[in-house]
Amino acid sequence: MFLRIFAVCVFVLSLVSMSWAAGAHDGLLCTGCHGIHTAKGDIIFAVEPNKKAINPKTKQPNTGTTALCLGCHETPDKGGMGIMAVSGHMSHPFGVTPNTKVATVPAAFLREGKLECVGCHDPHPSNPFYKYLRVDTSKGAKMTDFCAMCHSSKADPNVVKNLKMFNSMDERSYVPAAVTPAAPASAPAAPRRK
Ligand code: HEC
Ligand code: HEC
Ligand code: HEC
Ligand code: HEC
Repeated sequence: MFLRIFAVCVFVLSLVSMSWAAGAHDGLLCTGCHGIHTAKGDIIFAVEPNKKAINPKTKQPNTGTTALCLGCHETPDKGGMGIMAVSGHMSHPFGVTPNTKVATVPAAFLREGKLECVGCHDPHPSNPFYKYLRVDTSKGAKMTDFCAMCHSSKADPNVVKNLKMFNSMDERSYVPAAVTPAAPASAPAAPRRK
């Protein structure tokens, strides 16, 4: 089983020319996800969108960036590449237009009104947080801080008040780490996610 997964990974890695460097997306080149010349999907994605996997909530194939993530993160029989396939453990809804009685997703993180994978994850290598989540959970120890992002009325008000969310999608708000004086996290060339 492990060997099979490993073989698929090695194949995939050579296919989209990534490196093993740090394991997760840090090791993917930009071009592992974005094809500059031979794009296969939206946002010039290098990976074929997964139209095979059926969304458990909507009973439809996935759309938008979710179909792109699942081009890698789904088992091969469901149209993915077997890299950390999510179908086995993903019980939280995605690909849905939120019922605002259940959750309030910050507008900046909805795509065409829907909660997609990128509602919870910012997949860019600049994201320093555990599992590319939009909120720092201290390596998963404070997962309730993350849930507070969209389920505020159920969370500790102090957490909600001080919540910082990571967003790589507005270049105008970028502050280069190099000019931040003496910030320890900015010291290594490729900061490890925490
Ligand atoms: C080109 C293939 C590819 C695509 C597309 C892709 N990923 Fe990944 N992802 C990877 C690889 C490779 C890893 C590392 C797997 C490993 O360590 O075994 C990874 C790891 C992850 C992890 C775990 C990180 C960790 O620290 O353990 C998360 C979360 C993740 N991806 C989310 C996403 C999301 C969300 C999307 C869509 C926006 C996405 N990925 C798109 C290849 C991809
Ligand atoms: C794991 C896959 C993945 C990797 C690696 C990745 N991206 Fe992305 N990129 C995405 C996804 C998914 C989106 C859309 C995100 C969203 O909607 O929030 C995106 C969006 C973008 C956009 C915005 C496009 C627009 O229309 O607004 C730019 C620019 C971009 N990426 C550049 C880069 C660069 C530069 C790198 C390397 C440093 C990189 N990406 C690495 C998946 C990836
Ligand atoms: C409601 C928020 C939410 C949504 C939506 C979501 N994720 Fe996640 N995801 C998480 C959380 C939280 C974790 C970390 C779980 C942990 O380690 O305790 C995670 C973990 C992961 C991992 C790492 C799994 C591992 O074995 O370490 C991958 C890969 C991933 N997500 C991909 C995706 C993809 C692809 C989608 C869209 C189909 C998606 N996620 C949608 C919250 C979300
Ligand atoms: C980025 C926003 C976001 C985050 C973060 C988030 N959720 Fe959700 N959650 C939603 C949305 C959207 C729904 C679906 C609402 C609907 O039914 O339309 C939902 C639904 C739920 C439901 C109801 C599920 C069902 O099938 O009816 C539960 C329970 C839940 N979330 C728990 C959590 C927990 C626990 C966390 C933290 C680990 C979390 N959520 C993080 C947005 C989020």
